Amino acid sequence: MKKEYGINNKPNLNLARKRLGKETKVIEFEIAQKYKDLGVGKTYMIKTYGCQGNLSDSGKMAGILEALGFKRVEEEIQADFILFNTCAIRENAENRIFGELGRIKKIKKQHPELIIGICGCMMQEEATIEKIQKKCPHVDVIFGTHNIVKLPEYLYIALNNQKALEVMSVEGDIYENIPNVRDHPYKAWVDIMYGCDEFCTYCIVPYTRGKERSRRPEDIIKEVKSLADLGYQEVTLLGQNVDAYGNDLDINYKFSDLLVDLNKINIPRIRFTTSHPRDFDDKTIAAMALGGNIMPHLHLPVQSGNDEVLKRMNRKYTSGEYIDKMNKLKEQVPGISITTDIIVAFPGETEEQFNDTLKLVEAIEFEGAFTFIYSPRIGTPAAKYPNPLTEDEKKQRLLTLNKKINEYTLKGNKRFEGEVVEVLVDGFSKTDPEMLTGYTQHNKLINFKGNEELIGTIVKVKVKKSFTWHLLGELV
Ligand code: 5AD
Ligand code: SF4
Repeated sequence: MKKEYGINNKPNLNLARKRLGKETKVIEFEIAQKYKDLGVGKTYMIKTYGCQGNLSDSGKMAGILEALGFKRVEEEIQADFILFNTCAIRENAENRIFGELGRIKKIKKQHPELIIGICGCMMQEEATIEKIQKKCPHVDVIFGTHNIVKLPEYLYIALNNQKALEVMSVEGDIYENIPNVRDHPYKAWVDIMYGCDEFCTYCIVPYTRGKERSRRPEDIIKEVKSLADLGYQEVTLLGQNVDAYGNDLDINYKFSDLLVDLNKINIPRIRFTTSHPRDFDDKTIAAMALGGNIMPHLHLPVQSGNDEVLKRMNRKYTSGEYIDKMNKLKEQVPGISITTDIIVAFPGETEEQFNDTLKLVEAIEFEGAFTFIYSPRIGTPAAKYPNPLTEDEKKQRLLTLNKKINEYTLKGNKRFEGEVVEVLVDGFSKTDPEMLTGYTQHNKLINFKGNEELIGTIVKVKVKKSFTWHLLGELV
């Protein structure tokens, strides 16, 4: 029997492109009485794809589900509700989701009561929604990135044998006090802002996540303090462009001010991602130079080393400006580790322009990078630019770049050989259960022998040998 829709509200990419100037409201999250026991006796599973923003959203949705009485399970076949939190950043991320939806259909055949939900960035695209409606009638609940607080209502509709589709095209509000189930006992993500106003020409995020909205500093500080009280060892501040933090607030309070305030809190480690080279400023460098709990690592996506390409990407800085800022940072935070994101084969990128990227890698000596072949995203300006390179040429550029990056990653790791470093111990290594594993202050993965009680603590380890992907050490 074909199910009726309880809510049927589709996205509109054209509308999402416009910034309608809607004022951001801060709202206290609450679960309506009607939905309070919705999940009692039921189980759930969330499958998360993509960036830390999605991991953070999934933690909140898990929090909402558990507040409704749902219990988490690890096997699909045991779940009464399976939710896919999707990513739209590149084409291969999207293709994977359709594979998963095809596979899950068989599980629904064995377990017809199963509710299947899908949310996240992919749902902000009209074409994707239409494809799901046509090809995946077994999906019961579809909602967008601005709608996660309405999960109880969508489940209520689905449990009453209807479908729910709701995607807001324009930016949402800020919700505080959403319950959160964090999947790591010592490390936490803390959103400091939502959305992005940069509109880099290759990127879908400003359309899927809406305009930049900063949380109030007092709410962030309160959250970090409570995590510290709970024994968390590390907090990573999250935003698409953390250096734009505060620009939309009615007070003069920027990202550097937030770092200075968090520096005073008794939590061992503060990290943040992602920074933007245009907005990364002297005050932030000065805040990083305070040291203490602010970790000596910066992830600063450069995307390309060629000024013409950067201009066509709408990045609003030159490679020279990037280098100058990083030299200043290296001077004021000696030994800092710098990592980046790079896109190869952006439409029209010539061999020479690609070589400029290699030169920039040499100039900065990046100690790691996420590297990508450009992937056209419908609705973004660059998707219309001609791109004459063959797939083989694109792959070759990626290989050449990765080889260069790996050289500097190894060099960056080698500098720690013989040094004693501080490590936050995550657990036992998956590849070698005899070894403990964790991250150094400079965000290097390190393995060493030790016992279980050390998990969740910060210990001193002497680095014995460095490889490209990890360090090997000995407890001191
Ligand atoms: N194609 C390839 N890579 C992309 N990124 C963002 N959009 C695209 C795209 N269309 C990369 C950028 C960004 C990272 C999160 O993903 O490097 O920093
Ligand atoms: Fe995308 Fe650019 Fe915003 Fe990063 S800064 S999320 S690359 S538009």
